[in-house]
Amino acid sequence: MRVLLTGGTGYIGSHTAAALAARGHHIVLLDNFSNSERDVPARLQALTGQSFPLIEADIRDTETLTRALRDHEIDAVIHFAALKAVGESEADPLLYYEMNILGTIRLLQAMQAANVAHIVFSSSATVYGQPDSSPILEDFPTRVENIYGRTKLVMEDLIRDLARTNKLSGAANLRYFNPVGAHPSALIGETPRGVPNNLMPYLTQVATGERPHLNIFGNDYNTPDGTGVRDYIHVMDLAEAHALALEHIFANNVSITVNLGTGEGTSVLQLVRAFARATGREIKTLIAPRRPGDVASYYANPALAEKLFGWKAKLSVLDMCRDSWRWQAKRAGINDVQV
Ligand code: NAD
Ligand code: UD1
Repeated sequence: MRVLLTGGTGYIGSHTAAALAARGHHIVLLDNFSNSERDVPARLQALTGQSFPLIEADIRDTETLTRALRDHEIDAVIHFAALKAVGESEADPLLYYEMNILGTIRLLQAMQAANVAHIVFSSSATVYGQPDSSPILEDFPTRVENIYGRTKLVMEDLIRDLARTNKLSGAANLRYFNPVGAHPSALIGETPRGVPNNLMPYLTQVATGERPHLNIFGNDYNTPDGTGVRDYIHVMDLAEAHALALEHIFANNVSITVNLGTGEGTSVLQLVRAFARATGREIKTLIAPRRPGDVASYYANPALAEKLFGWKAKLSVLDMCRDSWRWQAKRAGINDVQV
């Protein structure tokens, strides 16, 4: 297949590009580099031995998008490009409506103009808000708890509507739980700008000495050790899921909404201990107040992905810690990493 990846030089997009290339697909990357590095295509080439054509464009530019889809004879799109910071979305809702919702509409218009009728979309477990219970199934109610979550839900709805009215032939809304880790080569990984919001990037920066300690946001939750529980998933497993979901919707012309998680909950303290075991680095922690908007615990029931397209996460929390550390240590110039 010839596949265009919007946001293809970002964290999840770049790993998916590598996974798709390994399965013989031809990949075109489209990005405006608002949150990624310009040498990602070169690093992908070093990793896979294949070249990755790059279009530097904004997803709101329908004309450029339409031309790209036509010129590269694209069969399907995987849509990663979006803004993703919860706090920023609450500070500037219109920016998020514009980039995420309007951007998706422009992309869908370009796809329609170029007769591209298959899309895989990066959604998030954030659409479940505070779930009543875990493991979470896809038919649990969706709840909007912040502007970012609102945009994800609207984008999902747009895609489902177009599939229902036969404007799209195949669509997959993939609800990621908590992606972490990096390619084991440490050639690609996550590059958060400024102070990381998410646990794993923060933790690895404590391990490199870039930050003095990890704040644990609350140890009085109703969880086994009092700290927040999440379903961390290795980005390589996530990348593989995109390839299988894409092949499934392309072969069967179906519209699906699917959780991508491991099905296992890990607490903040368990992750800190796993990190020490996987890397030999102890992390200094301090207990801090709960972070507003945080959920005590959530994890996926990932059975539907296995049923529909035979996907199951294979990599463990130790693998996630080891690969996150390799990547962050390399970036920090630490060369004695032996894990
Ligand atoms: P990322 O920021 O690393 O990747 C997004 C890419 O899109 C970046 O390369 C950025 O430069 C590009 N981009 C942003 N706006 C653009 C625009 N208007 N036009 C063109 N390119 C644009 O983020 P990621 O972690 O790889 O996330 C990818 C997708 O997955 C996002 O839609 C995100 O909301 C979703 N998601 C991420 C997580 C997570 O924890 N990382 C969890 C759930 C869902
Ligand atoms: C956060 C976002 C969510 C988004 C997801 C992407 C919020 C409120 N939610 O979710 O919308 O989809 O990232 O992966 O921002 N923690 C600490 N110390 C830290 C950082 C985090 O203790 O420095 C704890 C949190 O309280 C939580 C767990 O670690 O219990 C995971 O946090 P994080 O990585 O930010 O993910 P989410 O909270 O699931």
